[in-house]
Amino acid sequence: MSAIACEGLRKYYRVKVRRSFFNRIDSVIKALDDVSLEVEKGVVFSLVGPNGAGKTTMVKILSTLLIPDAGWARVGGYDVVKQAGRVRRIIGLVLAPDKGFYTRLTGLENLVYYGRLYGLSKGEATRKAKELLELTGLGEDGMRLFEEYSLGMRAKLSIAKALINDPEIVFLDEPTIGLDPLSARRIRNLIKDLAAGGMTVFMTSHNMWEVENLSNTVAVIKSGSIVAKGSPAELKEKLKLSYRVEVEVIAESFPDTRLPVTMGERGYPVVTVTTNRPSEDLVKVIDEMRGKGYSIGMVRVQEPSLEEVLTQVLSS
Ligand SMILES: Nc1ncnc2c1ncn2[C@@H]1O[C@H](COP(=O)(O)OP(=O)(O)OP(=O)(O)O)[C@@H](O)[C@H]1O
Ligand SMILES: [Mg+2]
Repeated sequence: MSAIACEGLRKYYRVKVRRSFFNRIDSVIKALDDVSLEVEKGVVFSLVGPNGAGKTTMVKILSTLLIPDAGWARVGGYDVVKQAGRVRRIIGLVLAPDKGFYTRLTGLENLVYYGRLYGLSKGEATRKAKELLELTGLGEDGMRLFEEYSLGMRAKLSIAKALINDPEIVFLDEPTIGLDPLSARRIRNLIKDLAAGGMTVFMTSHNMWEVENLSNTVAVIKSGSIVAKGSPAELKEKLKLSYRVEVEVIAESFPDTRLPVTMGERGYPVVTVTTNRPSEDLVKVIDEMRGKGYSIGMVRVQEPSLEEVLTQVLSS
């Protein structure tokens, strides 16, 4: 059984668009339009796509906060509408910005409060809360009042809160937004550890580097529809994205070759080849240049990135 499954999910919003003060027209926004997905247990699944594509709407439906207009979804085997209570027991959720904290309580007190709501004893809740303060990097800041928290501290506390009930499945809507680089790395490592321990992670992010490094599977959503899905490697493969092989030639002028050459940042010409066989072509370029008597400077092979995948998928 998969951890998350949905079929034909649809969510339309009826909105009024104001053209001028007296002129309002009714309009329909298709936030989700017939979305079907399956997520295996213990994987990191990322939903990516432009602003307004439907990612948060998807997270809200799967976490029982929003009821779909059509279609069904199951989380941990439970129906998100008919068995919403069951779903809530086994999931954790991060939505940004998280409004679910008591401002006059400390971070630790907030976490203990939520732990108690899940039925933990005071002692268990406190132990778990302290462990999560360490894991998320809040540490001693857990003793400060929530109202004093910075954006990043709030984000960390949201993640800690999402984990207080040892969920089977966690939904993270932009978990590293507002985090400094070291804190973001800590959270990424935590996400990896959670998945390695068997937890299923469903996340969204606009940081493609992060998505590429964390995810087993990535789905691209555009205007409420899934337009591509696969592992980062599969997506690159499908789109036939090429590597860039760059070989710097230590020479005063452009080398004598039929290969493309540009002027590099260091003031030497650089032979640049785009290819699907980077190792073979790298050797070929170096051999040709050496054969012509040039010495080789810096060499670089650039992998196609997930960002390129996204750019290509969204522009087509
Ligand atoms: N309560 C609402 N009422 C009307 N329209 C809404 C509502 N919530 C979301 N929408 C619309 O639904 C669409 C999808 O929104 P959603 O928040 O799911 O996008 P997103 O992919 O999370 O975007 P972002 O990357 O900016 O967070 C948008 O056009 C948004 O304006
Ligand atoms: Mg969103």
